[in-house]
Amino acid sequence: MAPPKLHMLFCLFGCLPLVHPFNWQDIEPVTYIQPSAWIQTIQLLLPTASFGHTKIPKGSGPYSVGCTDLMSGYTNQSTFLRLYYPSQDKDGPDALWIPNKEYFEGLSKVLGSPSFMGKVFNSLYSAMTVPAKWNSPLRTGEKYPLIIFSHGLGAFRTVYSAIGIDLASNGFIVGAVEHRDESASATYYFQDQSAAESRNKSWLYFKSAKAESETLRKEQVQHRGKECSQALSLLLDLDKGKPVKNVLDLQFDLQQLKGSLDRNKIAIMGHSFGGATVIQALSKDQRFRCGIALDPWMFPVGEEVYSKIPQPLFFINSERFQSTGDIVKMKKFFQPHRERKMIAIRGSVHHNFADFTFLTGKIIGQILSLKGDIDSNVAMDLINKASLAFLQKYLGLHKNFDQWNSLMDGDNENLIPQVIFDTVTLSPTLQSQTGTVKGNLD
Ligand SMILES: *[C@@H]1O[C@H](CO)[C@@H](O)[C@H](O)[C@H]1NC(C)=O
Ligand SMILES: *[C@@H]1O[C@H](CO)[C@@H](O)[C@H](O)[C@H]1NC(C)=O
Repeated sequence: MAPPKLHMLFCLFGCLPLVHPFNWQDIEPVTYIQPSAWIQTIQLLLPTASFGHTKIPKGSGPYSVGCTDLMSGYTNQSTFLRLYYPSQDKDGPDALWIPNKEYFEGLSKVLGSPSFMGKVFNSLYSAMTVPAKWNSPLRTGEKYPLIIFSHGLGAFRTVYSAIGIDLASNGFIVGAVEHRDESASATYYFQDQSAAESRNKSWLYFKSAKAESETLRKEQVQHRGKECSQALSLLLDLDKGKPVKNVLDLQFDLQQLKGSLDRNKIAIMGHSFGGATVIQALSKDQRFRCGIALDPWMFPVGEEVYSKIPQPLFFINSERFQSTGDIVKMKKFFQPHRERKMIAIRGSVHHNFADFTFLTGKIIGQILSLKGDIDSNVAMDLINKASLAFLQKYLGLHKNFDQWNSLMDGDNENLIPQVIFDTVTLSPTLQSQTGTVKGNLD
């Protein structure tokens, strides 16, 4: 009945194990699990599901956080993003984490799981919310720096809320783009105005590739980079007060965004395929003043971009995901007169960056490789604080994020500093794991 791929139940959202050199060490405990164990796992997951009670951490900063969705234009060329922003008040309902059942169906397809799994996921998680007030008015009286965020392969705009919310709570506006390059589990658009008015969505699902294709991935990463630039242009238009129609027709009044942005303080962040997108977008669009690549998937990154990024760039990796070859590729960006930083989070896995790391208890989370040995909250806190320090330094912010400057250099018991990557050509995994050999292919 079910494919014997239980271990892949949640091994996604950043990358697909089948299509990417993947550390099979992560999933060893369940490699030989039988198909019948599907049911068992579902039973195990049931009590851990949150049923409307969020487990996504609240933002660490002083601002309360609002959330809305914005779609501008029609067809698959339209721009679609989720906005996290400092909000005026703390009242109102929290935003739904995954707002449409089609996303769960898409996830189930990405996993190659039986179609009923989409319904199971939907029943487990469709009521789950994130700690951000849906359509709450924007807090006015300040100009905020802007972050464009790009999701991973098989993910979509809403599943990096732990990062988006933390940034917004620290006084950023965050636009988390949903990509239309068929790399999202699912996404939708409206074909035209009448489709929008009648709420007739056109769904676009994940395109699976039998064999990993460099051509496809390079096309996609370019497409993704353009979508990030397009999202940035849209938000800058709103800041200028240009009339923009949100075809989703939500309560949030877009005119509030007029004059809300600190137009010179713009950065880009992304995870996995989104990390590759960060690199791509920086090389093409100088409006992005700096970038943070979270455990980037280096496969689609072409060598032509190594010398094309004058902006500061920060790699925050997991301990286990990157192969030696990937680290070597990242090191090519370390050139004279370029600001580069690299750290890895000790005991972390690739999925420590996405919200999924908060969904289950420790044991299940580790079995499904959603969690590493490190506590998910500790890892997320380091990701966010190191990012804030970097953003303050390279966007020139006047905040107190410089208190975490040492994290950029890996000065913390839970971090692996860049010097390790400088002195050896082996990835830290090979040194620090007790005698394990990575299953990576390249
Ligand atoms: C987007 O729409 C155009 C025109 O209909 C089509 O040619 C293209 O294949 C579509 N792209 C995707 C990714 O669906
Ligand atoms: C919804 O949109 C699709 C694609 O544009 C179209 O083919 C279909 O007829 C529409 N359905 C309705 C009920 O309007």
